[in-house]
Amino acid sequence: MMFGFGKKKINTLASDKKESDYKKVGNREFWDVSIWVFGFIYRMEPLRTLVFLSTSVLSNFSDIVYTFIFAKIIDVLVKASTNGVSNLSDIYPYIALIVVYGIANRIISYIGVISDYGLRMLTEPKITRALYTRLNYLGIQTLEKPQVNDRIYRASESTDYLCSYMQGLVEILSSFIQIVVTFVIVVKFFPIFVPIVLLVSIPFYYTDKVHRGASYKFIYDHAENSRSAMLSSNDLGLPAKLNEVTVIQAFNFLDRKFFNFKIWYEKKLVSINTKRRFFNNFFAFLGDLAVYAGFVVVFSQLVKKVISVGDVTFRVNLLSRFQSSFTHMITMINNKMEQALRMRDIYLLYQETPAFKDGSIEHPKLSKGPEIDIKNMSFKYPNTEKPIFNNLGLNIKSGEKVAIVGHNGAGKTTLVKLLCRIYQPTQGEIYVNNQVLKDIKIDTWYQNMGVLFQEFNQYPQLTVRENIAIGNPNEPVDEVALHLAAQSADATQFIEEFPNKFDQILSEKFKGGVRPSTGQWQKLAIARFFYRNAPLVIFDEPTASIDAVSEYNIFNKIYDFFKEKTVIIISHRFSTVRNADRIIVLDHGEIVEQGTHSFLMSNNGYYAKAFNLQAKGYSGSGGE
Ligand SMILES: Nc1ncnc2c1ncn2[C@@H]1O[C@H](COP(=O)(O)OP(=O)(O)OP(=O)(O)O)[C@@H](O)[C@H]1O
Ligand SMILES: [Mg+2]
Repeated sequence: MMFGFGKKKINTLASDKKESDYKKVGNREFWDVSIWVFGFIYRMEPLRTLVFLSTSVLSNFSDIVYTFIFAKIIDVLVKASTNGVSNLSDIYPYIALIVVYGIANRIISYIGVISDYGLRMLTEPKITRALYTRLNYLGIQTLEKPQVNDRIYRASESTDYLCSYMQGLVEILSSFIQIVVTFVIVVKFFPIFVPIVLLVSIPFYYTDKVHRGASYKFIYDHAENSRSAMLSSNDLGLPAKLNEVTVIQAFNFLDRKFFNFKIWYEKKLVSINTKRRFFNNFFAFLGDLAVYAGFVVVFSQLVKKVISVGDVTFRVNLLSRFQSSFTHMITMINNKMEQALRMRDIYLLYQETPAFKDGSIEHPKLSKGPEIDIKNMSFKYPNTEKPIFNNLGLNIKSGEKVAIVGHNGAGKTTLVKLLCRIYQPTQGEIYVNNQVLKDIKIDTWYQNMGVLFQEFNQYPQLTVRENIAIGNPNEPVDEVALHLAAQSADATQFIEEFPNKFDQILSEKFKGGVRPSTGQWQKLAIARFFYRNAPLVIFDEPTASIDAVSEYNIFNKIYDFFKEKTVIIISHRFSTVRNADRIIVLDHGEIVEQGTHSFLMSNNGYYAKAFNLQAKGYSGSGGE
């Protein structure tokens, strides 16, 4: 489908091209998901959940009780007026009852509101936390399975609905109880009413279900376009993005992308829901007709003096209540059955298991760098068929300083991830000080590692000090080591120039915050790993955004700083790896050359060629 986005038709919805993969949950699954959601919330807030459940049920009951007391009062009034008695003392007990009822009702609704509010507010952070704790537990290899990946995205968008889903279930339950109670009374004085209401409910149920289904399917199928529209609006709302948007004059383009889609989208939704409301009201009106028929029956019972005036008010009320509870329950069930689709993503994440088990052997905290021995290792990523390593063998001695170079995509970062056991080799083993890596308890291995990933983290919400100290988060901050780390990463000068120095917050979005440059961020990340000072240090492209002088300073320090430690440096800048004990050239997951700088230069292979090419680029003349 094409959209007239202003002057020119410029967009085709991705979701129009592919078949919709919207699939509702079946009845059985709805049941499973609902029970799980209830248990999930209950375990977080048992008391509030129970209080919420009880007050919901009680408040439905209390309405019936109120109507009953009122009917009794009317009877006393009628009796008094027909007998011409002005003494209303018979009515006092009922007035007292109404007062007691009123107090009880206020208390119930107060407790209900408080538990509802508390439940929503307190489960929110707990749900978010439960989700990331779960993801952490599952590990990256599981999370990278494509179906799990999609699910995580959708689940993280749906966590807000978990609590309200559970509350909807409670509403269904309390409506059901109310239906049962009113049924027991109604069936005695107007038995035919119940099957009539049931009959009229069938088309109500189906049209409601069909239209809700259409609405949810529409939302589901256009979720990606919605997200894309929202991203366009973000680009227009973030000062950091406005630089480029202003200069390339992309404002109207992005504005149309957001606004034209959103207006079209909301109009469609309004139209679907208008239809649903029309049919709902039409069939609810048929239900009303049954209620009116019930009124006639009740009135005739009064005329025949079978019942009192008070009974009339009570019964009339029950008829309406029975019918409205019924339609309410149906709409709630339909609503929740559609929402169960969102809940299922979270539910299924909790059914996933980690791709591999944690090892059981505790690895001691090392003082010297470990020896690493990779034997016959093969690996492919779980979501692809392409092998990254095939029978790789590599031994790194304790305390050795190894540099790995090679083309983009050669497998360098993948090797780091395997050493971190983020992934597990598909064949072969990695040994750490002669211990099979997969048998080691992962936490005890991590305490011996420091890895600066190519896609390193920035923590703009933390101060400079915290950005560095988080490298060793379980111990009190050692100021001397922290300053030394900053200095080794060539970061001291710019930190000292920040208004708040080491206490500087690193985002202009916070009060008094500044925004570090890309290279400054990288230096802070390097400082973090100097500070961590782990026995095995891995730097993956540590200086990609760093100026040549700083790079020179930092690399000179790395080799000295981590003297006793095992160090692996991955870099594309050949001038920085030349001092390594050994340089390994990786190509398509294979070691094609290795040795010292001078050996590789004399070898005149890939390394020598690439080195000369870069040196030429730097000096502008050729050779070093
Ligand atoms: N999570 C992943 N799932 C599937 N394939 C992946 C994944 N991560 C990386 N790859 C693929 O594995 C190969 C090796 O990637 P890797 O990141 O190890 O390369 P690299 O040597 O670090 O490259 P660069 O110099 O660009 O950092 C690439 O072909 C890449 O497309
Ligand atoms: Mg890489």
